[in-house]
This record gives sequence, C-alpha cells and structure tokens, in this order.
Amino acid sequence: MGCGGSREKAKDTPQIWSNHLDRSSQSKYNFKIVFLGKSGVGKTSITIRFCRDTFFDGTEATIGASFLTKTMNIDNRTIKFELWDTAGQERYRALAPMYYRNADAAVLVFDYTDPDSFQSLQSWLYEIQKNVPDCVIILCGNKIDLESSRKVQHEAAEDYAKENDCLLIEVSSKTGQNIQELFTKLGELLSYKHYKT
Ligand code: GTP
Ligand code: MG
Repeated sequence: MGCGGSREKAKDTPQIWSNHLDRSSQSKYNFKIVFLGKSGVGKTSITIRFCRDTFFDGTEATIGASFLTKTMNIDNRTIKFELWDTAGQERYRALAPMYYRNADAAVLVFDYTDPDSFQSLQSWLYEIQKNVPDCVIILCGNKIDLESSRKVQHEAAEDYAKENDCLLIEVSSKTGQNIQELFTKLGELLSYKHYKT
C-alpha cells in the first residue's frame, strides 16, 4: 500500500488560506477522494492517467489500496486531490471503510463492458450514503473506448444516476477521454460545497 504520510483533513482544517470574500485571490483546498468498485473496472488506471498521464495494459490488481496526490488549478483555486485507490477484490472488501472514512467524495467506478460491475454500484452507494452522509458521490463509467463490447447502455447508466441524485461521467483511462473533466467536476463541486459551508 502506498502512503502519503501525515496529512491535514480538509473538513477538520479548512485550508482556505486567502480571504473568503476576495474571489480574485488564490484559495487552496485539500480534498480526499476514494475510488471504489469491482476489481478490474479501472480504478488504478484512472488515477494513474490523471496523476501521471499514462496508461498500462494489464495492470496488476491492487493490494489493499494505493495513495496518490495531484494538484490542479480551477478558477483561481489550487486544489490538491488526495486519491485513495482501493482494491476491488472481494477479499479486501472489509478494508474499504478505512479508506472512505472522512472522504470528501467517492468515485464509484464501473466498466461499460461488465454489467456485473454496474450492478455492484448499488451496494457501494448504500454503504457510502449510510456511513459518509456528506460525501459527494460520482458514478464513473470507464472503458468507453471499447464501444463494440459495450454491455451497459448509456441511458441505463444515466437513469440510474438520476434516480440516485448522482452525476455520471463516462471516461476512458486508456485514451484519457474525460479524465480531466472528471477531476475538474469534482474540484468544482467540492470547492463550491466548501465555500457555502
Ligand atoms: P483492482 O485493483 O483489482 O480493484 O482493479 P482496478 O479497478 O484498479 O482495475 P485496473 O486499473 O487494474 O484495470 C484492469 C484492467 O483494465 C487492466 O488490464 C487495464 O489495462 C484495463 N483498463 C483500465 N482502464 C481501461 C480503459 O479505459 N480501457 C481499456 N480498454 N482497458 C482499460
Ligand atoms: Mg487497482
């Protein structure tokens, strides 16, 4: 398991170093994001594409979890994402609460070519809503580059997201399509939420 050492938590210590009222000055935020979903859906690939702008065919299954960080600027705000990439294999399921505890957002990942991974979103959704009530939840459908093997239809995913009041983002960590948009959306949602509270 990778680890980033000690860290200050955004909710406990709002890291907005500039004056809230001065929108022209630079604000800084730390957000903890947890990636959850069935093994093989591409959680590791998404985080690696975002943090290192690269992709590996045939990555190994994650053991426990990995930790990565990346800082980006959105609308004059500096946002540091602290990414917990969890292991999807069933044997690690019991560890998940350790990683989603205090998360600002959960990205629930499924694979458009694997209907079972889409079905399994339900249990993650319930678990996060129950245990981390303030957490922003984003549904992330990965592998849209494999259009000819698609088994989950866009409309089904969109309907499911609407029913559950979540945002759906379709990405490909292989081509990089929409990866930047996923994190820009997360940064916007979270900094807006933080600003209001
Ligand atoms: P666990 O660590 O076991 O939970 O799996 P994971 O969700 O981290 O999946 P991982 O990122 O290891 O990807 C699983 C496989 O899918 C690997 O062979 C990746 O190369 C492949 N993969 C991931 N993302 C994509 C994608 O967008 N398109 C395609 N075609 N393959 C992908
Ligand atoms: Mg992994």
